[in-house]
Parts: sequence; C-alpha cells; structure tokens
Amino acid sequence: MEIEISSSMHLMYVSEIQQEMYDSAQRRGTGIAKRSIEYLSKKISEGNAVVATENGEWVGFCYIETWSHGQFVANSGLIVSPKFRERGAATLIKNKVFQLSRDKYPNAKVFGLTTGLAVMKINSDLGYKPVIYSELTQDDEFWNGCKSCVNYDILMKKERKNCLCTAMLFVPENITKNGAAHTQPEIKYSNEMSQTDIEYPVQNSLGEFQMTIKNNKKSPDEKESHLSV
Ligand SMILES: CC(C)(COP(=O)(O)OP(=O)(O)OC[C@H]1O[C@@H](n2cnc3c(N)ncnc32)[C@H](O)[C@@H]1OP(=O)(O)O)[C@@H](O)C(=O)NCCC(=O)NCCS
Repeated sequence: MEIEISSSMHLMYVSEIQQEMYDSAQRRGTGIAKRSIEYLSKKISEGNAVVATENGEWVGFCYIETWSHGQFVANSGLIVSPKFRERGAATLIKNKVFQLSRDKYPNAKVFGLTTGLAVMKINSDLGYKPVIYSELTQDDEFWNGCKSCVNYDILMKKERKNCLCTAMLFVPENITKNGAAHTQPEIKYSNEMSQTDIEYPVQNSLGEFQMTIKNNKKSPDEKESHLSV
C-alpha cells in the first residue's frame, strides 16, 4: 500500500473519494456535508491531503483544514474504501496527515470531531486528548460545517458546548494554555571573543523584554545574566 502526500496526479480519484464520503455518511446516518469536487480537488492539488493507493486502486483519503487564522488544524474527511477497511489503512493515513499538519503548522493545535471508535483509537495513539468544544476553534465557518448534520439542533441547544461527537485535541508541547507559542532560545554568536550569548524572549506584566545570558567561556562560574527591557 502506498501512502502519499497528494499532488495533481491523484486528481483521477476525486470522484470516487467524494462518492464514498457521501455514501458512508448516509450509511452512518450523520448527513455530513457533501464536499464539492472543486473543494477536494483544490486540497489534492495543493498538497493538503494524503492519498492511499494499492496497485493503482484508490484505498483512502484525508485532508487538512486550518481555522482561527492557523491557530488550529483539523484533519478532516477521513475515508477508507470499504474493500480495504480493517487492514490498518486509516491508521497509516492519519499518521501521515498528522505529520504533514505538524510540519506545515508546528504551532497549531490539531483537533477532530468524531463519533467513530476507530478514529478515537487512532487519535489517542497520536496524543490527542478528549476535550469540551470550547477548547476547539470558535471559527463560525468551522461550526457552519455541522449545519447539514442530523444532530445540528442538539449542538445549538447545547450552545455549541457539546453534542454527540467526541472532540479530540492535540496540543503541541510549545503551546501555552492561552495559545501562544513559546519561542525556542536563539543562540547568538557575538563578535566579542569567546562569548556566546543566549537570548530568551520573556513575558512580564509590563510586556515582553529580552533576557540575555552572557556566556563567557573562560569559566562556567563567570556567567552573568542581565535583563534588557
Ligand atoms: C473509520 C475508518 C476510516 C477506519 O478505517 P480502517 O482502515 O478500517 O481503520 P484501521 O484498520 O486503521 O483501524 C484502526 C483501529 O480502529 C479499529 N476499527 C476499525 N474499524 C472499526 C470499527 N468499525 N469499529 C470499531 N473499531 C474499528 C481497528 O481495529 C483498529 O484498532 P486497533 O489499533 O486497536 O487494532 C473506515 O471504517 C471508514 O472509512 N469509515 C467511514 C467513514 C468514517 O467513519 N470516517 C471517520 C469520520 S470521523
């Protein structure tokens, strides 16, 4: 089985993918929106999807969406052709699309909404945790995608706080609780002989200032640190 980041050579599978997404949603009774051929084609040709194939036959698919100006990424539209199910295809596809999301958006939280046990298992293995909906993107455009779900009334009655889907969220280690990204210390080599200065951006009540650790290599005990506002 081949698991690849999508490119225009995968456009030949787009009708089959769209049809299977629709048929599976009907069978599950979720009534999730039918994604247009144009939308799926764009994801595929821009390299924002993962496609699995076997001997030229389409096996599975998943794509990336960004929300809240890139603060959140969702791996959406996971679908495996019925004939290839329960052979680990979804696991491989989700692993690849998750890695693609982390590479493209290293500071974004990755989330998903699902009622499916298979997806819950895969997400847990990737480090996602179950959360309430207020932890997810509050981008109206994302929630508008639920409008064609049979459970949309429940979501609205619950004021978008919860519904029948389980929300799962992966938070990168460098993201603080309020969503800001920690910057890695930048190692700067100064022109002064034998000194390596390490600069940390630090937040205090007055705003951000720079903390510089002067690292004089002559002796570890001679290290001095100073704050420059
Ligand atoms: C859900 C779906 C993507 C799973 O694809 P798959 O290739 O069969 O999944 P995998 O073989 O990688 O299985 C992953 C795990 O889920 C389990 N699993 C697979 N199908 C399952 C099912 N129907 N019910 C319960 N567990 C299931 C597997 O046993 C495996 O668990 P393990 O790691 O403990 O062994 C596929 O059934 C599908 O396309 N369904 C319709 C669309 C859909 O529901 N998409 C998800 C939208 S959120």
